[in-house]
Amino acid sequence: MNKKLIQKEYKEKINALNKFNKYYYDKSEPLVSDSKYDELKNELLLLEQKYTFLKSKKSPSNIVGHKPSKNFKKAFHRAPMLSLVNAFTEDDLINFEKKIFNFLSEDKNFKIFYSAEPKIDGISASLSYKNGKLEQGLSRGDGKEGEDITLNLSTINDIPKKIISKDFPKEIDIRGEVFIKNSDFENLKDKFANPRNAASGSLRQKNPEDTKKIPLNFIAYTYGFEKGLNIKSQSDFLEKLNEWGFKTNSLNKLISGVKNLILNYNEIEKQRANLDFDIDGIVYKINDFDLQKRLGNIANAPRWAIAHKFSSSKGISKILDIDIQVGRTGALTPVAKIKPINIGGVIVSNATLHNEDEINRKDIRIGDTAIIERAGDVIPHILSVDKQKRSKNSKKFIFPKNCPSCGSETIKEFNKVTKKVDAVRRCSSEGYYCDKISIEKLKHFVSKEAFNIDGLGKKIVENFWKLKLIKYPQDIFNLDFSKIKNLEGWGKLSVQNLKYSIDQKKNISLERFIYSLGIRHIGLENAKLLSKHFVSFSKFKNLSKQIDFEDMLNIDGIGETQVSSIKSFFSNKTNKKVVNELENALLIKDAVQNSDDGLLNNKTFLVTGKLNGISRAEVKSLIEENSGKTISSVSKKLNFLIVGEKPTKKKVDYAKQLKIKVINQAEFLKMLNKSS
Ligand code: IVH
Repeated sequence: MNKKLIQKEYKEKINALNKFNKYYYDKSEPLVSDSKYDELKNELLLLEQKYTFLKSKKSPSNIVGHKPSKNFKKAFHRAPMLSLVNAFTEDDLINFEKKIFNFLSEDKNFKIFYSAEPKIDGISASLSYKNGKLEQGLSRGDGKEGEDITLNLSTINDIPKKIISKDFPKEIDIRGEVFIKNSDFENLKDKFANPRNAASGSLRQKNPEDTKKIPLNFIAYTYGFEKGLNIKSQSDFLEKLNEWGFKTNSLNKLISGVKNLILNYNEIEKQRANLDFDIDGIVYKINDFDLQKRLGNIANAPRWAIAHKFSSSKGISKILDIDIQVGRTGALTPVAKIKPINIGGVIVSNATLHNEDEINRKDIRIGDTAIIERAGDVIPHILSVDKQKRSKNSKKFIFPKNCPSCGSETIKEFNKVTKKVDAVRRCSSEGYYCDKISIEKLKHFVSKEAFNIDGLGKKIVENFWKLKLIKYPQDIFNLDFSKIKNLEGWGKLSVQNLKYSIDQKKNISLERFIYSLGIRHIGLENAKLLSKHFVSFSKFKNLSKQIDFEDMLNIDGIGETQVSSIKSFFSNKTNKKVVNELENALLIKDAVQNSDDGLLNNKTFLVTGKLNGISRAEVKSLIEENSGKTISSVSKKLNFLIVGEKPTKKKVDYAKQLKIKVINQAEFLKMLNKSS
């Protein structure tokens, strides 16, 4: 077929699909059956996969949300909805503040104010306003893409539908928490387990009239995308929210110093039982928006905020058995099966024992009476056992020397960085040889940050695995749907939906794809770095030459551990096969390169020595924001060596020898048209 004809066919399919969408969503009057729709959409995706020159903004593969047989369509957040790092102890807070000081290159005397806000345990939502009018309301979803629940959110009285204040931004997403008051929950107790479930359930009602019957509340606390917001701090923003007609938490405070944060935390924890809404901690946000901007984000949480969770609850119970679980990376984790007890409202029957060393150190045995601690959403763990209560014939727990799943020998690795033997014992098998590792790899593959396939959760993956429907990740894209249709709990419609969600995820970003492979030591953040560096998957996959691996070490953030892990991943035959087959079944999108119109485009930098008033991490963000690159050692690839106080002489000498430009802080800032 010639190019023109293909393009014509492509356009026709797009137009037809968009027409069907319009009728389905806007008019609630479907023109074709769901399966016909799926078929057409599949054909379109296949065309796009086959002929990469096809591109159209109107293609439904770019527009998310038009999806049949689901209650809500989906839509992307204009700015991602981030999550928060948790803190449990004063030390966690001290560390948090220390990292901030380091990043900002400030010393202990620098005073930072935090907006301390009780963390309501509800459901977060993002409300988009345009010219003061509420246009769209989305659930959080996976942080990037949420469900369009505009109609249901519109039933909430606390949510203003029209704002006429002069200083309300032209466009803004207001974000906050939807929740049910404990007093209102009393009447809903039979239907839902807790107020949070009740809020979530009623927000997901198909019919907004049903949502309206449930007394939902909304408290606003942050914003996403904005145009025309002229505010300098979180506390000013919270005040403005009130002026604009939103409710905010009356317990919000402006506080400086970790000691004062703790005082406030204790005070609020005391009031907790008397509040009419559930809170599970306090959120601390750096008050100054300029500082927030400088600090930016790590993976999917801001560097400038933290959630200080309320203290744990404890309980005493008996250890009935010790199970050894095998994780995705082969780590053997001992788990105590305990006599079920209620700790802080949650029934606990499992508690982690962390690793072999922990069992030995605490001398934990089957039959022991133990103190179990549960803190926040973290897996409960065993604090200690009561040796007095131990029966005479109790025996020391012997950790298995072979993998309980595949029988392979287990090993403790030597960590080259810490120069210590790992506390964790691992199955030595080659990944997919071990059943448990295989299942865990598959679960990782479909997890939220990886492929995140609607309707293909961990439980279903496990079930499909047992039924031999899938063994390797690529099998997900070659599922025999005729077999699934006949399984219990599945029907024509749910199979159709599954097929649809799987097809939709065939189009995947490079960073998600790298992350989903589950290479040891390559988490979200590293996957992002690698994706930025390699841009296309073929480049990443073909890194066989020594020089490519050395090059990888130049990526700031990637070290020997990661490189050797990637090496060993790609030297495994099964992994290679998995990767090749996935590549055939998927369309892995090239990474979007940082806009290359910045002032530092095509230039590489390295810092040695201490700079004045700006940290390494901040310099790195600055360089990247301006389309430059930071690398981790002096080599021919380096363009500029930025020299601060007490630089490493060797680096400076070597740079001079290679005729690399050696500049100071002021010269660097000048390149960015900034003065020092
Ligand atoms: S700020 C980047 N402020 O906590 C900032 N979140 O783990 C992220 N939450 O999903 C949100 N009260 O549901 C923020 N005052 C508050 C909050 C709050 C509750 C929830 C929210 C979010 C989760 C973050």
